[in-house]
Amino acid sequence: MKILVTSALPYANGEIHLGHLAGAYLPADIYMRYQRLKGRDAIYVCGTDEHGVPITISADKQHKTPREIVDKYYTSITDSFEGFGMTFDNFSRTSLPCHHRLAQDFFTRIYEKDLIYPRDIEQFFCGRCRRFLPDRYVIGKCPKCGSEGARGDQCEACGHWLEPFELIEARCLVCGEAPRRTQTRHWYFKLSAFQEGLSSWIAGKKGWRDTVLTFVQGWLREGLEDRPITRDLSWGVPVPLAEANGKVLYVWFDAPIGYISSTIEWAEKQGKPDRWKEYWCDKDTKLVHFIGKDNIVFHALIWPAMLMAYGDYVLPSEIPANQFLNLAGGKFSTSKDYAIWLPDYLKGFKPDSLRYALTRNAPEARDTDFTWRDFQAWHNNELADILGNFINRTLTFIKRYYNSRVPEVASASYGARDNEMLASLRNAPAAIGARIEGFEFKGALQDIMSIAQEANRYFDHEEPWSTRMKDPAACARAMNVCAHIVAVLAVLIEPFLPFTAKRIQKMIGLVPGGWDDIARLPRIAEIGETSILFEKIGDDVIELQEGKLKKETTDKETIDLEYFSKIALLTGRILSAERIEGSKNLMKCQVETRDRKKQIVAGIGKDYTPEQLVGKVVIIVDNLQPAKIRGVLSEAMLLAAVDERGVVLVTADRPVTSGTPVR
Ligand code: 2FM
Ligand code: ZN
Repeated sequence: MKILVTSALPYANGEIHLGHLAGAYLPADIYMRYQRLKGRDAIYVCGTDEHGVPITISADKQHKTPREIVDKYYTSITDSFEGFGMTFDNFSRTSLPCHHRLAQDFFTRIYEKDLIYPRDIEQFFCGRCRRFLPDRYVIGKCPKCGSEGARGDQCEACGHWLEPFELIEARCLVCGEAPRRTQTRHWYFKLSAFQEGLSSWIAGKKGWRDTVLTFVQGWLREGLEDRPITRDLSWGVPVPLAEANGKVLYVWFDAPIGYISSTIEWAEKQGKPDRWKEYWCDKDTKLVHFIGKDNIVFHALIWPAMLMAYGDYVLPSEIPANQFLNLAGGKFSTSKDYAIWLPDYLKGFKPDSLRYALTRNAPEARDTDFTWRDFQAWHNNELADILGNFINRTLTFIKRYYNSRVPEVASASYGARDNEMLASLRNAPAAIGARIEGFEFKGALQDIMSIAQEANRYFDHEEPWSTRMKDPAACARAMNVCAHIVAVLAVLIEPFLPFTAKRIQKMIGLVPGGWDDIARLPRIAEIGETSILFEKIGDDVIELQEGKLKKETTDKETIDLEYFSKIALLTGRILSAERIEGSKNLMKCQVETRDRKKQIVAGIGKDYTPEQLVGKVVIIVDNLQPAKIRGVLSEAMLLAAVDERGVVLVTADRPVTSGTPVR
């Protein structure tokens, strides 16, 4: 049987954070490392997801081209993954020509089978930007919770999925203009045609996680609807139809195809260009998609339907989707920069400490929470005090009292307690292996740590420090057993803590044979150079990280003087102010700057009356893109500070001519 493992392709528009790692990457890497130790024919493919609105929005925000964005993050994402020991067999990119060709081939074949069809729909068109707006390019007030800044696909504040037309006071994300509904043509994937096929396919997946099944069954119960798979963007895979000029494939149509194109690229790099077919075209291949829960619908319904529509390729066997990891009680948020990013983590700590914490606390069945305090406690009290301590005390004892040579013992001389310990080692690989194969990584790690804990108890019970003089045979026996335990642990932990495993293996001169060899209890003869495996992490180090987390919620990226100089800040005198009808907070102000007058709409009506405003000399952002707010044109912005008491305008300290530049 062949095993093909994938992790959700990360968007190449930002760094990877702990939540991503815990969701889709770390479990897949553990699974793969285990499969390799089992000697199975398994490969692990991934790559960056380089298309879609998230990329173009990041590019717009950073004043860069999408190409510059994806190149930058492709590099940093691959560096981070390497730092954490992710063992992809191939890590590709969806902007590669080979992926574009395959995605277009998918579209064309499904189109020719009449499972993709055009539909004329109304969509928002921004007159100023002269373009149709993809959902996320429309923002406005959420119709469900009233929050400002909801996107055309979802309100981040309340989590509701939305349609752009539902937004109140919809406007273009780029220019702020109110867009108008306009007819356009899009292409739809006939997902509804797969209602039955998917239902019976899912019915055969009884062993899947409840969280995944519940979700999928909910969708099936509601009835599957056809989905638009084209978008109005200039960045992406062009729709391979002449009349679709200027449109690209929806990123969620092209991205999962990336799993196949990454495998094709892998085969090409091997010099065996057809080898990918051995995985994708063999119905016995076990295709395993590791993802986070936000990706379930795409992997468990839409992607399988695409594969059914296309024909030829295997369907997913397993989709061990994880729930979310939260951060100190809050949600990870890229936009608010509330996260711990992998490159930052790696500046201060070892990868295995995090691999341990994230697996110990894996969000397998429910959301879990990461805190620096837990991280510290688990590192110090478990990795250092249990695992590290046992290995250290065993190896130093053998070095000191046996001249680094593991004492040999005739198996007949083992006592009951020794045999009990050795039996648990022999059983471990099968029991832990079964857990890993069942995607219970947290449980598997717990089992390993129980062995280490039991090993410490065994050491204490045997008291080698006293038997060394009183009963040398007993001492030798105990140290022989302890050496076996070290060797077994050195392999068992490899999928979870690969860097530590390698260090221990080096110390004891062990070249691991494979997972099943563990049951035959690998022998070690001599101890080489040893060092402490886990140095304790102090409170000061943790406090520093905790502090950063709070600060990061207010910090923004550093800008240079040139960037700052693009912002035209001027003094301005408020000539008149009036409330905007129907709004408690919005005020329309006429502001005198240099030689002209500007109209500014500002949310200051709860804190100021029009009378209080007239005559004030304020600071304005003069070159801000004009926008309509509640249908009223606003040509600049007033600077103000906002705290828990409300809004306070930034004003000049002494009389100053209107239009004076502010630096
Ligand atoms: O949610 C995400 O980050 C997407 N980029 C995942 C894509 S998974 C796959 F289908 F490619
Ligand atoms: Zn616009």
